[in-house]
Amino acid sequence: MKEERSSFSGGLGFVLAAAGSAVGLGNLWRFPYLAAQYGGGIFIFVYLILALTFGFSLLVMEIGMGRKTKASAIRAFETINKKFSWVGYLATLVPIIILPYYCVIGGWVLKYLVVYLTGGGVDAADSAYFGNYVAGTEQPLLYFGVFLLLTTLIVLGGVKEGVERFSKMLMPVLVVLAIGICIYIVMIPGALEGVKYYLLPDFSKFSLKTVCAAMGQLFFSMSLAMGIMISYGSYVKDDVNVMKSVNHIEIFDTAIALLSGLMIVPAVYIFSGEEGLKSSGVGLMFSTLPRVFADMPFGGIIGLVFFILVFFAAVTSSISILEAIVSNILDKFNWDRRKASFGVAIMAFVLGIPSALGFGALGDVTPLGMDFLTFFDYISNSVLMPIVALFTCIMFGWVVGTKEIEDEVTKNGESFGRRKIFRVMIKYVAPVCLVVILIFYSLAQFGFISY
Ligand code: PHE
Repeated sequence: MKEERSSFSGGLGFVLAAAGSAVGLGNLWRFPYLAAQYGGGIFIFVYLILALTFGFSLLVMEIGMGRKTKASAIRAFETINKKFSWVGYLATLVPIIILPYYCVIGGWVLKYLVVYLTGGGVDAADSAYFGNYVAGTEQPLLYFGVFLLLTTLIVLGGVKEGVERFSKMLMPVLVVLAIGICIYIVMIPGALEGVKYYLLPDFSKFSLKTVCAAMGQLFFSMSLAMGIMISYGSYVKDDVNVMKSVNHIEIFDTAIALLSGLMIVPAVYIFSGEEGLKSSGVGLMFSTLPRVFADMPFGGIIGLVFFILVFFAAVTSSISILEAIVSNILDKFNWDRRKASFGVAIMAFVLGIPSALGFGALGDVTPLGMDFLTFFDYISNSVLMPIVALFTCIMFGWVVGTKEIEDEVTKNGESFGRRKIFRVMIKYVAPVCLVVILIFYSLAQFGFISY
């Protein structure tokens, strides 16, 4: 007999756990560096519009689908429509690709946490520190392994005990600290120019590239198109108001992303101007903030607290990535949780080695011209997720009908704000955008258009 499906204790527990999955390195690490790279305000502008329409619709669709089927991605797709069951498998592939490199970055965070803990914050403020660190071999591997192991041990605790308890305690603290750091940074002389760059859209900088980047970020940040929100939806009790929960998750996730950009982008602007922002990459958070902390009174302590919080945000997300993979295995095969969790962890460690060493020992190997970490990030966010999202939209928009979802999320008489947007998005706008993006990316990748 299967064990009874565990569930969240209620609406709030669900929102906090889903927010725990959504809010993570995507908000704190990925969003700021993309915003910096893709023109600041214009990126934010595009992102916000997409979040309120596209992101919202996909989130409702996935959570609704999970609660309706009470199953994880693979079985959920099978249940809704047999012809689309391959989408479930594809969706499950995404977290398998993300987990390894996510834990590599988690390892970087852990390293910085340890550096601050041992009073080395001043060293970390050196502009070459990050580059030197990731070029190493033993340390990046070690911290990556430790981060992955921690993630695994928490997932072994089960849904309620593991995921919920962690998320509940730490999110509010993260918000308060982030606001505090923002206020400090915005008051540094010269920061205002950076704030302007970050917030005011300059429409001459608009390009399809910005839209693509924003959309990929949306998937990543809201944990969409990879089965995660389907799994989470399956743990939601039938009397929970899904619409309300979706709104809260959406607002929370976006607010944290904006906040962390505000913490990081103006600070980079102060130190290295607009050029520095454009050439920024995956190291942005790690190379800038330590410089800010070094200038701050009590910077050592603030830096420590900051990296502790980033670390916890990263852990609550990484457990959700691992959980998504494990719950699919449990749904599909008769393995026990222990075996599944450790099996996946070992696989993730092996798969993560290229990403961990891609800035050092394996620096010369550049698939599609990218380092390994960026490559895996690209394959998952820019190729697989759009494909999964596209076919999920086609399935609901054109085959089974959006009504299935609408009925599910309003079955206790809840009101469905943005219902029209939802329908039009799922049926027309999202599929068209996704096809355009997929074509554009492939053309750009193979050199047919300049990018
Ligand atoms: N959404 C999480 C974040 O913003 C990361 C994540 C990615 C979580 C993929 C689950 C799956 O960091």
